[in-house]
Amino acid sequence: MNVDDPFDVYFTRATRAYCSFPAETGSSDKALLALAQKIDLSRKKIVVDYGCGQGRLLAAINKIHGKGELSNLHYIGVDVYEDAIEAAKTFFESTLAKTGVKAMFRYEDNFDTTAFLADQIFLIFTVHEFDPINLDATLSRLWRMLRRGGTLYIQDTGAPIYKEVEFLSFEPQRIEELLQSFGANVSSETIKTGVNHVPVYIVAGHKPADLDLEIAYSWHDLKETYRQVLHRSLLRDCFELYRMRTAIDNNKTVDSEKLAAACHRIAVFARGFHQTYALDRVDMNEAPYCVACGSGNVISKTIEPNVKDSGEIKIKCSDCDYEHRKEIEVGLEREDWEVRDRFSLLDAGKDRFTDWDEHQLTRCLLSFGHESLSFFEPFLLSVPGANRSIIKSYKRFIR
Ligand SMILES: C[S@@+](CC[C@H](N)C(=O)[O-])C[C@H]1O[C@@H](n2cnc3c(N)ncnc32)[C@H](O)[C@@H]1O
Repeated sequence: MNVDDPFDVYFTRATRAYCSFPAETGSSDKALLALAQKIDLSRKKIVVDYGCGQGRLLAAINKIHGKGELSNLHYIGVDVYEDAIEAAKTFFESTLAKTGVKAMFRYEDNFDTTAFLADQIFLIFTVHEFDPINLDATLSRLWRMLRRGGTLYIQDTGAPIYKEVEFLSFEPQRIEELLQSFGANVSSETIKTGVNHVPVYIVAGHKPADLDLEIAYSWHDLKETYRQVLHRSLLRDCFELYRMRTAIDNNKTVDSEKLAAACHRIAVFARGFHQTYALDRVDMNEAPYCVACGSGNVISKTIEPNVKDSGEIKIKCSDCDYEHRKEIEVGLEREDWEVRDRFSLLDAGKDRFTDWDEHQLTRCLLSFGHESLSFFEPFLLSVPGANRSIIKSYKRFIR
């Protein structure tokens, strides 16, 4: 690396970090301990740790909460990385399993966000790893899964973390803007943590307890929101980069870490913005172009949604061979009305318990299989009309 050239910092550090931190490190991490403190276990709670890695949040929870409280915790760890899930499971078995905590671990592909409602959702150093074009859709899905009165916590860093973690990340304003667009009450704090006292942000999006049920559990049409957020972010970073570039040209010193972070954000968000824009043009039946190399030499194919298929847009570039596929209904889920009914039932219950409600409860259990019965039973029992014998009768459906 050429240390005289601050732009080099970007290229040598912009690598993605899968979770290389063992669970145990969570018990001494100030930011994680602060998050664990936010879990009120005075009654039973479903807590989702999305991008759980090796289970550092579990270690922090173990440190903060006493045995009596822990039996109220129903924890779901989700990750795309199988080795991380295995490590988290092993950690859980050797520690918290004895305390009465109930835990499930899910590979992201098998995680059904329409099956139940969560009280708290944590994304700890995870959003920077999302594909930017799907950031809004992923966050919106998780937001919809949050019970009214619940909170979604996003912890990450807007600064590059040298030596500790080899990635560069997003600034909290982007996350705040997206959460606000979902109707969240947002608050933020910053905590310095790790051996280098790196500032990490915790953005909390609270779903108001009196939010209209329809709004609370609807699936947002995000296309417009996300494009605006991306656009604003890009502009902000472009100005910042321009200011720093000018300073360098005038032989002034700039903070190379900040410069590296701005470069990274621009690269990541420009890609997201470009893809969103390109796909919108296909949606509008305008001439598409390759989202990877910009070539106009592309073959694009749109399969319209029908009763059997959710539809798909495919862009194949004849120059660079890049193939981009996207399901058409990014912002709208076809079965949304059904999901909304399910969530309304789980949240508010119904005056009368109908066949339809029973069907919704069965769907919740079917999504997770047999093990879910003991995990979800206390929550399903709180739905008016759903008694133990109804829930037991679902067993026959579950493999
Ligand atoms: C830097 S690690 C942080 C892990 C853990 N939260 C912690 O603080 O130790 C990010 C984790 O997010 C996971 N991840 C990345 N993209 C994901 C996605 N789309 N869905 C679920 N997990 C994801 C990675 O596999 C990785 O384990």
